Amino acid sequence: MPVPKKHQLIGIDIGSHSIKVAEIEDSKKGMILKNFGMIGLPENAIVEGSIKEMEIVSAALKNLLDNLQIKNKNVATSISGYSVIVKKITIPEKEEKDLEESIQSESEQYIPFDINDVNLDFQILPSESEKEETEDEEKEELMDVLLVAAKKDIVEEYISLLHLTELNPIVLDIDPFALQNAFEISNHEQSGCHALVHIGAQQLTINVIKEGISIFTRDSPHGGAQITSEIQESLDISYREAESVKLGAKPIETDQRPAIEEIFSSTVTKWAQEIKRALDFVATTFTDIKVENILLSGGASLLPGLGKYIGLETGLKTEMLNPFSNLEIKEKLFDIGYLNYSAPMAVISIGLALRSIGDR
Ligand SMILES: Nc1ncnc2c1ncn2[C@@H]1O[C@H](COP(=O)(O)OP(=O)(O)OP(=O)(O)O)[C@@H](O)[C@H]1O
Ligand SMILES: [Mg+2]
Repeated sequence: MPVPKKHQLIGIDIGSHSIKVAEIEDSKKGMILKNFGMIGLPENAIVEGSIKEMEIVSAALKNLLDNLQIKNKNVATSISGYSVIVKKITIPEKEEKDLEESIQSESEQYIPFDINDVNLDFQILPSESEKEETEDEEKEELMDVLLVAAKKDIVEEYISLLHLTELNPIVLDIDPFALQNAFEISNHEQSGCHALVHIGAQQLTINVIKEGISIFTRDSPHGGAQITSEIQESLDISYREAESVKLGAKPIETDQRPAIEEIFSSTVTKWAQEIKRALDFVATTFTDIKVENILLSGGASLLPGLGKYIGLETGLKTEMLNPFSNLEIKEKLFDIGYLNYSAPMAVISIGLALRSIGDR
């Protein structure tokens, strides 16, 4: 059933490097891309997922929405990183409404923050194999619950930003789930086990999906900004200039080249190690599962040769995740070249635009 128009949301991905906005129309004939755009943010406006320059970020977002002529005020956005904990826990079986009442005490031991400082959400997962017997030999039914805890101060920042921009926050998601939603509507093979790897400016997000269900997620503080700041330091130039050097738009002296190449290679080595660590964890935790391929996205995945390198390091086929692949795109409304270039960066906003009013 298509989502009624009045329930559709704009997906807003507030990244540290740029804001992305997407709108999707769910029609009887399928999903249509209605709008997509990005706007850059200055250095340090958002740091470690926290909005440091509220006015600047709000003005940029407003600018982007005006340019795209978006009228809808209802928003799905997401948070990520250090302030969000996603954990699978196993607890004695109970009804959803009972768990709603006891979730705070059930989760306390799993959350590294004061339980009063977080917003909690949960999802009861489909049961897997038979559970073990307990000590007193009585069979106790257990269930798996996916717990999501987000620090209240960060949640409040994002809500304040949307209010300041005269928008209504309706859904607050987290990056790994938005990534999964974007994957699910793409034309990539869904059955089997796939590792989604999204590398942005400050955040590397991994979500391993098996038969449509997330079995592992991790966020770590890696991304393209690492390369930019190291170039900035090495050449003693501004962040903006360093960004141009990184993208090959600003030439450098021949004698500076080895140092810059070393920055690229040492950083991507760290990313590959992080991905391998996650895949090793998945392999040892779920011995019956074999990850088939990696689907790469995020702006940093545009680094030439990165997919090939990660493929070699992990031994897995590595492809780019294209979130537009199954959407109807009206060629007269979009610059196709721009969409193709933006596809890796658009992923989270597309995943968010798929959410609707009434979603939890
Ligand atoms: N062609 C390119 N080659 C290499 N790096 C690129 C290219 N295009 C963008 N990037 C890098 O990708 C990063 C931005 O990616 P993205 O838009 O996914 O990040 P973000 O969502 O703004 O940040 P966050 O990690 O905070 O979510 C920047 O570091 C940028 O320099
Ligand atoms: Mg991002």
